[in-house]
Amino acid sequence: MRITVLGSGYVGLVAGTCLSVLGNDVICLDLDELKIEKLRQAVLPIYEPGLDSNVAEMVKVGRLRFTSKYEEGVAHADIIFVAVGTPQAKNGAADLSFIRAAAAGVGRHLVKKSIIVIKSTVPVGTAHMVKEIVEGELASRQRTDVQFAVVSNPEFLREGNAIQDFMRPDRIVIGSDDAWAVEIMRRIYAPLSRNHDKLLVMSPRSAELTKYASNAMLATRISFMNELSRFAEAAGGNIEDVRRGIGEDSRIGRHFLYAGAGYGGSCFPKDVRALVSAGRSLGIDMSILAAVDTVNNQQKTILFEKIASFFASRGGLKGKTIAIWGLAFKPDTDDVREAPSLALIERLLSAGAQVRAYDPIAVHTAKTALGSTDLVTFCSSAYEALAGADALALVTEYREFRTPDFDRIAASLTEKAVFDGRNLYARADLEAAGLHYFDIGRGN
Ligand code: UGA
Repeated sequence: MRITVLGSGYVGLVAGTCLSVLGNDVICLDLDELKIEKLRQAVLPIYEPGLDSNVAEMVKVGRLRFTSKYEEGVAHADIIFVAVGTPQAKNGAADLSFIRAAAAGVGRHLVKKSIIVIKSTVPVGTAHMVKEIVEGELASRQRTDVQFAVVSNPEFLREGNAIQDFMRPDRIVIGSDDAWAVEIMRRIYAPLSRNHDKLLVMSPRSAELTKYASNAMLATRISFMNELSRFAEAAGGNIEDVRRGIGEDSRIGRHFLYAGAGYGGSCFPKDVRALVSAGRSLGIDMSILAAVDTVNNQQKTILFEKIASFFASRGGLKGKTIAIWGLAFKPDTDDVREAPSLALIERLLSAGAQVRAYDPIAVHTAKTALGSTDLVTFCSSAYEALAGADALALVTEYREFRTPDFDRIAASLTEKAVFDGRNLYARADLEAAGLHYFDIGRGN
């Protein structure tokens, strides 16, 4: 099928590339000409394992092309996927200006029967809004004869695992009131839904809410565990045992129950707040989700509090140097948006400390996020970050941090303290190396 994907960000690039791998003829459209020029040479604006080689391969075989021109993109396609950003507006709501612009751009150039598929995470009612914008543009061009359907088809892929998640989805949500459009969506996703039907067909509004509900539920599980981890610390329990104890109940399940330094990224924080904000405008007090956000904001300070309390009896943090392992909000991505590492660094700097940071992938994005400062030194290896440091904080659980040389860590750190924000290590290993060890809720 002939497909155009609007927006070459995370979701758009992954979807466009995977759809071309599945045999479709795909154009990715983005108004950023520099980005498009680089993509033509298979230079990607984001880091995602395996994506660059797939892009290069699909460009080579001619099933993936890039353009910055709406005329070209819209004329090409029978199906137009909208995957533009929906960032957080100042009031916490989703900012729909890119969606509106995309809908208008499509409406201005639509010439044949098409499906407009909304892949971006959008508030309930957006498919309806897109339909009205496109109808308005068609009317002003006197082309109301052009038939089109708007389908809500949220994406559930995770950064760092995006290709696998796209190609092997747990479910495919299709929100549409048009039977002919559902049939075509069924055909597009047939290769991913072969052995059993993964398609869930519902109204556009239910599909839009399903996306927010998924992220909100996962964020709720994390905040729930983070809150319990504080309780466990105070009461003397071990949150990891509790996690196993509840996760084996098949009604609860094992996933997304890991207490840590708080959730970050471009999705959970933004989507939870957007749902709270949308509820407010409907007169619904989303008190559970407001609490999920509050708990997460508190959790992002937890490593700092532990570090500050350790150094309180050692002359305070002023003039101390803290090594940080991991800047990205999770492993295998260069994304630092809402990352717990940034919250920690800001607090450490305000308390007069300096930071030596290492991340295998996300240094360039962290540098941009933090702006120019002499107080943060970016290092090119995990052990280099320890040189001259007083303590180590582990914030992102990259594989390469899993089994470090604890004797070497102890020899490097002046105050011999490790703050483990992801419960990666066993206390006995660190204490055997003469290190002070602080984790999240495992009974300090
Ligand atoms: C999330 C969802 O998992 C995807 O299904 C969804 O498509 C995506 O948002 C989106 O809306 O685009 P992502 O933000 O890439 O994906 O990352 P996750 O793997 O979900 O992790 C989010 C955050 O939660 C990370 O900071 C991670 O460290 C934290 N987390 C995760 C925990 O603290 N504990 C856990 O048990 C799991």
